[in-house]
Amino acid sequence: MERILVTGGAGFIGSHIADALLAEGYKVGVVDDLSTGKRERVPPEAAFYQCDICSPELEAVFADFQPDKIIHAAAQVRVSTSLANPEFDARINILGSLQVLELARRFGCRRIVYSSSAAVYGNPQYLPVDEGHPIHPISPYGISKHTVEHYLYMYQQLYGLDYVVLRYSNVYGPRQDSSGEGGVVAIFIDRLLAGEPPIIYGDGCQTRDFINVKDVARANILALRYGKSRIFNVSSSAETSVNDLLRLIQIEIGCQGKVIHEAERPGEISRSLLSNREVLRAFNWKPEVDLESGLRETVSEVRKTGTKPSKGEA
Ligand SMILES: NC(=O)c1ccc[n+]([C@@H]2O[C@H](COP(=O)([O-])OP(=O)(O)OC[C@H]3O[C@@H](n4cnc5c(N)ncnc54)[C@H](O)[C@@H]3O)[C@@H](O)[C@H]2O)c1
Repeated sequence: MERILVTGGAGFIGSHIADALLAEGYKVGVVDDLSTGKRERVPPEAAFYQCDICSPELEAVFADFQPDKIIHAAAQVRVSTSLANPEFDARINILGSLQVLELARRFGCRRIVYSSSAAVYGNPQYLPVDEGHPIHPISPYGISKHTVEHYLYMYQQLYGLDYVVLRYSNVYGPRQDSSGEGGVVAIFIDRLLAGEPPIIYGDGCQTRDFINVKDVARANILALRYGKSRIFNVSSSAETSVNDLLRLIQIEIGCQGKVIHEAERPGEISRSLLSNREVLRAFNWKPEVDLESGLRETVSEVRKTGTKPSKGEA
């Protein structure tokens, strides 16, 4: 069976990908520096390498694991960190990714599946945002995620290293840290379970496109088997307002209570919706976890384990 190296496999999305790969019979290696990831999320059947993707030691990981294909999910994932320290963001997300690509080329890997983001598009000019939408990222994070897409194209053209870029909308599900700014689901669940009022910025009518992490993991596996090199959005293609999301979570938890309203955050996108038409056609993939049941599972998981990070988080 193929050997798949998952970078960021101790993280929220990467660990679900590692689980899904093992369930499909793949041999799995995980490389993660545990900066936001957790060792206990790495399934015991996977080979684990604690290593920074920017470090020269990454070569030894490739030499030892000998991957056939790569799923590259390791990243600095916070927009606010990228704004405060764009160089740090670029070091991990661009230079670290470049090292992953170089090693993939040198070690003869056949394919790389890359976790990109809706952040590459910037403010939507129309909805739903499809893959042909103009690329105008408005954060260093969006720029760094998009830069790697260019390198992937180049490596495919020059060296025949195939790729699939998956641009996720807002991913949610079990194991998401509530400290992550994008994790509004985890943040709401955490506050409500702690008996604290959730905070809504602005009127709560802003919308997001929530996709369950298990659907994202499945798309990654299908991307490994896809015969071409392409870019896809991975999303639910459904718009949910922050107010509606909170209502659904309150119903799930069985609480009502106070909500704190704060001023709208500067630069916040008012509506977000990604078209998933292309991935539906190409992979025969569709979102299988609806928001209500996904939230139910997430709440029940958080009740068991909590969402607070174990280390390395503000
Ligand atoms: N969560 C979302 O909604 C979302 C949306 C779009 C794209 N993405 C992308 O999906 C991927 C996974 O994100 P996530 O939400 O699971 O975040 P996460 O922080 O849980 O996962 C990232 C993982 O990468 C590891 N990592 C960070 N820097 C590293 C380094 N220098 N070397 C090795 N490992 C390193 C972290 O320890 C962590 O385990 C990222 O590439 C992110 O940009 C996430």
